[in-house]
Amino acid sequence: MADMEGNKDAKQFAQDVAFANTGDFHVRGASNLDWGMKDRLSRIFKPETGKTVMLAFDHGYFMGPTSGLERLDLLIPRLAKHADCLMATRGAIRTSVPANYNKSIALRISSGSSILQNDLSHESMVVDIEDAIRMNASAIAIQTFIGAEGQKETIEALNKAVNLGSRYSIPTLGVVAVGKEMERTNRFFLLATRMLAEFGAQIVKTYYCDDFEKVVAACPVPLVVAGGKKVPEKDALTLAYNSIQCGAAGVDMGRNIFQSEYPEGMLQAVNKVVHDGFTDKEAYAFYLDLANANLQVNK
Ligand code: 5RP
Repeated sequence: MADMEGNKDAKQFAQDVAFANTGDFHVRGASNLDWGMKDRLSRIFKPETGKTVMLAFDHGYFMGPTSGLERLDLLIPRLAKHADCLMATRGAIRTSVPANYNKSIALRISSGSSILQNDLSHESMVVDIEDAIRMNASAIAIQTFIGAEGQKETIEALNKAVNLGSRYSIPTLGVVAVGKEMERTNRFFLLATRMLAEFGAQIVKTYYCDDFEKVVAACPVPLVVAGGKKVPEKDALTLAYNSIQCGAAGVDMGRNIFQSEYPEGMLQAVNKVVHDGFTDKEAYAFYLDLANANLQVNK
């Protein structure tokens, strides 16, 4: 391990220079991967834009039925067609998502904590790789708590997922979790996203932060940005817009979609930002039009 004494801070991110090793493939860092990996990544990241809109509804695995997710069987049929990828647990998908949607799945395979505890950082890989294969998962999603109490076990779990995913050409989506005591700084996200990519995750999910373009530049795999707690629709679209402007390969939003006044409209507006080059203002105007039209219909 390198001597930490006198270590110089990273500065030269060349964030204006595009990722170099693209080959002929549209997903960052994936040009050397096997055909099966590329096929699965292409189900998540649209080849036309290289980006993705993921819908996260995996909250129940540690929170129970949170607001908006009381009835997955009623919600998901309204939203699925506007998402490129569904991120959820096997229990949610098997029970509540019709199997004929033909959507890519990012299967949540880690767990170990619940909101009844103070420290949520102790998670391990709890789903067999064979079950991910049975579910035709396009990715396996596993959470890592860098800098928190559960760091070692979650790093081991992530590496186990990468080992098993590589055996069957299933990409691993490494999720950067922020421990209770951690600050959401650029320094933290630079560290955590790069660590997950170096462990072999083919996709990393993270939060947005200042100087996000440096986080993108330093991470050799695509970054998808989490939505986080519910904010006004306008602000959530600005988060999506800023993320894409800084080089994110998409978003993976939950509460800002399903807790929106009009979830279908919000997900379509996010699509406009991610895939169609809309600004946040344009996307918000688009959202308002859809929400008003919906109000008229349901008057
Ligand atoms: C956290 C996750 C969740 O899927 C994600 O954070 C939930 O989405 P949101 O924060 O947008 O509600 O990966 O481990």
